[in-house]
Amino acid sequence: MSTVLCLHGPNLNQLGRRQPEVYGSTTLPELEAAVNDWGRTLGFEVRCLQSNHEGELVEAIHEARDDAGVIFNPGALTHSSRALQDAVAAIDSPVVEVHLSNIRKRERWRRRSFLAPVAAASIFGRGPIGYRDGLRHLANRAAFPIETVRYGPHPDQVMDLRRGEASTGVILVHGGFWRDEWGRDTTESWAVDLARRGVPSANLEYRRLDSGGGAAATVSDVARAMEEATDHLGTDSIVAVGHSVGSQLVLAAMAEGFHAAVSAFISVGGVLDLEGAERDGIGDGAIEAFDPGWSLSPLGLPPPRCPVVLMHGGADDLVPDIQSRRYADYLTHHQVEHLLGVLEEVGHFDALKASSPAWTGALDALGRLGRPLGQT
Ligand code: DQA
Repeated sequence: MSTVLCLHGPNLNQLGRRQPEVYGSTTLPELEAAVNDWGRTLGFEVRCLQSNHEGELVEAIHEARDDAGVIFNPGALTHSSRALQDAVAAIDSPVVEVHLSNIRKRERWRRRSFLAPVAAASIFGRGPIGYRDGLRHLANRAAFPIETVRYGPHPDQVMDLRRGEASTGVILVHGGFWRDEWGRDTTESWAVDLARRGVPSANLEYRRLDSGGGAAATVSDVARAMEEATDHLGTDSIVAVGHSVGSQLVLAAMAEGFHAAVSAFISVGGVLDLEGAERDGIGDGAIEAFDPGWSLSPLGLPPPRCPVVLMHGGADDLVPDIQSRRYADYLTHHQVEHLLGVLEEVGHFDALKASSPAWTGALDALGRLGRPLGQT
């Protein structure tokens, strides 16, 4: 079993009683026990350490140089420590920065992370499950190498490329209601599955609400990233895949700025009718914050010029399947070839597993539409 270090910095031994309204009620021993369990299911043995002293944290990072990776919550040293930045840069093992709270939505001084430029990934604002997601990221990195490339100066204007020999490449666009807590790590298990099938992919990040995003900036990022991803992948054709609002973003980018040929579009758990979503109270105010006039609702955009696969979990209680059903009616009306699958037991996040019938069913459907992946 490979080992992972779970490292906590100053004041995190106070979790549970320290500002529970910000950090929650889970204590550090409870959190570490959960991290151990999550690690074991991913094949990692986790060592845990907490220190209130910067030098001890530096030494712990050095000692992790032969580990499979580090999950690191540096506490307030995130925002000040060049020494920790240097320590992380000094080792080859991937270090995932994790914060319980959303450091971008708090006081100004917390927005800057000295770890972010050298970290393999930065996960924040998800509470304890951010640690699980950090471990998943380490497992996904270990499974298949990633090359991260930029398409703009903002830290979120990046994409992860995974290479493969197939003649069709895939562009993945994650969801998360355009909020910066949710990132491209959520669509990573699909990317690893594609890589195992020999299919190259680009997993896109983009500016989100409160981090430089908003309807215009976010859609222009996705359009630009799709354009550059197409060049990086260099394949004969491209399949675009969106999850949740990632589907809305793909369609808005295709309608507004991205004109290169997409041979098929897959939407999984897609948000495809913004007006209906707001009416049904989906997204906890996100639609109002992102696109109050619904001008970028897929139902109001020109239909895609390629076949479409719509997969939706029938047990999705975040984005109900009526969203995909309405879009299927719209595609029928516009005579766009499509397949709709509603899978009874599948929830919103279940669909993100490569083993989910939402994912395997989407790939099968592509084959049935004459656009099989994985062929060279
Ligand atoms: C923290 C965020 C930091 O800004 C803060 O100083 C902490 C905890 C978090 O987990 O949210 O100590 O890293």
